[in-house]
Amino acid sequence: MMSAPFKLVRIPSLRNVEEFRRHVAGLGLELPCDEAIVVGTGSPLVQSLPSVSINGKLLGNRWAIHPMEGWDGTRSGGITDDVRRRWQRFGESGAKLICGGEAMAVRADGRANPNQLMATPENQNGLAELVALLRKAHQERYRSTEDLVIGFQLTHSGRFCKPTDPKRMEPRVAFRHPILDGRFHVTSQDQVFADEEIRQLIVCYVGAAAVARAAGADFVDLKHCHGYLLHEFLGAHTRPGPYGGSFDNRTRILREIIAGIRASGNPIDIGVRLSAFDFVPYRPDPALSQPGRPGPGIPEDYSHCLPYRYGFGVRAEQPTDYDLTEPRRFVDLCAELGVKILNLSAGSPYYNPHIQRPAAYPPSDGYQPAHDPLIDVARQIQVVRKLRAQAPRSLAIVGTAYSYLQEYLPHVAQFTVRAGWTDIVGLGRMTLSYPELLADAVAKGALNAKVICRTFSDCTTAPRNGLISGCYPLDRHYTAKPEFEQLKALKKPKA
Ligand SMILES: Cc1cc2nc3c(=O)[nH]c(=O)nc-3n(C[C@H](O)[C@H](O)[C@H](O)COP(=O)(O)O)c2cc1C
Ligand code: SF4
Repeated sequence: MMSAPFKLVRIPSLRNVEEFRRHVAGLGLELPCDEAIVVGTGSPLVQSLPSVSINGKLLGNRWAIHPMEGWDGTRSGGITDDVRRRWQRFGESGAKLICGGEAMAVRADGRANPNQLMATPENQNGLAELVALLRKAHQERYRSTEDLVIGFQLTHSGRFCKPTDPKRMEPRVAFRHPILDGRFHVTSQDQVFADEEIRQLIVCYVGAAAVARAAGADFVDLKHCHGYLLHEFLGAHTRPGPYGGSFDNRTRILREIIAGIRASGNPIDIGVRLSAFDFVPYRPDPALSQPGRPGPGIPEDYSHCLPYRYGFGVRAEQPTDYDLTEPRRFVDLCAELGVKILNLSAGSPYYNPHIQRPAAYPPSDGYQPAHDPLIDVARQIQVVRKLRAQAPRSLAIVGTAYSYLQEYLPHVAQFTVRAGWTDIVGLGRMTLSYPELLADAVAKGALNAKVICRTFSDCTTAPRNGLISGCYPLDRHYTAKPEFEQLKALKKPKA
């Protein structure tokens, strides 16, 4: 028997905190929120974080901007006016932690799109300009930048590389994957990174960290999330040799990058963004899909790959569930290595977007929600809570997946920070539509509902189709661009 389609209760239809709480309780979730937004110095969100000093600074408040690519750099990985504008808005957001800015490739073949920024010496001046713009915008609005910390996220895109043509995949992988190889055009063993190539890659990370330092970044974020290369290595159980198999081998690259940065004499602080758990890849249910309207997400058939040894933080016997045994070890390892910031995320926007960025509306390569996205929000918040409880205070923990909370984001953020479930609340998509959401909350106790991100996913759909990213529906800068019409045309269901 076919199950009845699930009917989504949209967040703006919940008229007050009481209704939000009732809805959350009806879903059986532990997702508490404050009764009201706290204004001024009493807000948990405006407290500094005394336990961690980054480049000699203490963070002035408890919200961060997550890294977000724009697909809008030059073909040589340099900055453009759209990139400048985004970084300026990061500064205007009031967040005291810019947790990576956007993923920057450490070398040309590791780009996820031909217009991704690159942290290479030729681009150093442009990156320094971004830091300066961000600081100036922040200084003008908030009067102080002594407590503002800026990082650059460093990456190689691995399985998702498209360095030369937005339509052509040129994947490089850590290991052969029984489900993802088919989706991402991995057809030959030559696409698997050889051990010697990894050593060359580590040299590129060390070089990119030198560029970051020279450009004025306070730290580098070593991207270990979302299925990109270093995240894939964490799940390289089936890979032979020094970079696969045991936990020690699968985390060797992280240790060698940090050792390389230190050996080069670069004192820059280190952060890590981690997908703290993962599931198997999902796809739209073909039985419930129509042209232009993908069905709800269901797991790919994984019966032929059990026990599932192709991910990190995923339960081998039941890979639609998580297992935090190794992520817990990873937290301890980060602390041992002197990592200062651990930004926790989940899954991948390419193969299980519902666990990574909960949304009411799917991106063009996604699927309809099969259940209330609050379930996915609560899962991330609870995992962060568990890992925060174990992590030493020397590690600042950043939580993810708050944007879907919309009107109730400040209420939940206040609760999670006050309760110590996370040190810092990170904002992704909400920053694109409404960078000052939490600044408005703590200053006025009220939000501008017109620009609250409604998780329309256009900022993901556009780049999936070779266009620049941005909040097309709510940010006039993008609504006015020719790409807006292009996006509209490609979203029209094909007959
Ligand atoms: C357009 C776009 C670009 C993104 N780029 C990056 C990135 O470069 N690095 C990264 O770690 N995460 C990236 N993410 C994921 C976000 O940082 C964040 O984890 C995700 O959007 C969930 O948080 P939210 O619910 O606040 O949006 C991106 C997300 C979006 C929507
Ligand atoms: S396009 Fe705008 S409203 Fe839609 S998810 Fe992105 S930021 Fe949110």
